[in-house]
Amino acid sequence: MKGKILELLKKNKGDFVSGQKISEELNVSRTAIWKYMNQLKDEGYEIESVSRKGYRLILTPDVLTYDEIKDLLKTKRIGRDILYFNSIDSTNSKAKQLASDGKGEGTVIISEEQTKGRGRLGRNWVSPKGKGVWMSIIIRPDIQPIDASKITQVTAAAVSKSILELGIKNYIKWPNDIIINNKKVCGILTEMSGELNKINYIVIGIGINVNLDENEIPNDIKDIATSLKIESGKKVSRKQLVANIFNNFEELYEELLNKNEITHSIEICKENSAVLGKEIRVIFRNKEIRGKAVDLTDEGELLIENQEGKIQKIISGEVSI
Ligand code: BTN
Repeated sequence: MKGKILELLKKNKGDFVSGQKISEELNVSRTAIWKYMNQLKDEGYEIESVSRKGYRLILTPDVLTYDEIKDLLKTKRIGRDILYFNSIDSTNSKAKQLASDGKGEGTVIISEEQTKGRGRLGRNWVSPKGKGVWMSIIIRPDIQPIDASKITQVTAAAVSKSILELGIKNYIKWPNDIIINNKKVCGILTEMSGELNKINYIVIGIGINVNLDENEIPNDIKDIATSLKIESGKKVSRKQLVANIFNNFEELYEELLNKNEITHSIEICKENSAVLGKEIRVIFRNKEIRGKAVDLTDEGELLIENQEGKIQKIISGEVSI
């Protein structure tokens, strides 16, 4: 109902809509309307209420609720059930808990801030309020656990394409960091629950530094982290970015589900690669491998050529350029 009231206010943007009209059109009591208006105000909507005139929407906040994103979505499943939080410890932790309780494919947990955002290798992930996209997508793909790493490539491709659609050139540092000017703007933390030959669920955590200013990047990571706003010089619409990610992810993910292929994702990963053709170092299973990154396989593994010309295939690892 709250969403319907918001739609009505948006349709009449700038004009008053009387309580009576809302009540008649939506079949809701005046007291309930008043309650929903207060909820909307709490979410950041500026609504003027004047007796005998009704309610008027003055300002829509930049929040990542389903009501704000839905008009931009082309998806069937991804992002059709968004659980929105003002603050949370970690969207990945919440998503794992909800997935264990049976939450379905495509459900997304989004929070304006995280107080215990988690990165890979036990690192923490700085997630200040309203400045980024901190979200986790629950999926339940019917694929073998051995193929789960393909999800990483699909996600990296979807995020990279989505940022590019906003006019910001970016690169994928294999397997799934998105970087601009050699600094990280996005990290992806994929967590899986499964058995030997069955995936129960996968939680894909995506953290994007969107509108952080220089002074909002902690000093100790200033050399390695940046934001879309810092790099592009303009404020970026978080809603549009999130919608683009859902739209692109669903399309690329369906290729994996329907054909067990990630051809399109790999194409995007190659086009926007930060590592191909470069001399790199990879830490893989506590070993350091040095060489030239020469290609990605159809499965998304990285091929590295060492000094003797021998090609090594790597499934995962931490890359330094
Ligand atoms: C990395 O170390 O590069 C991965 C960072 C992943 C951060 C995101 S933010 C949303 C989701 N919730 C978390 O706690 N972590 C991921």
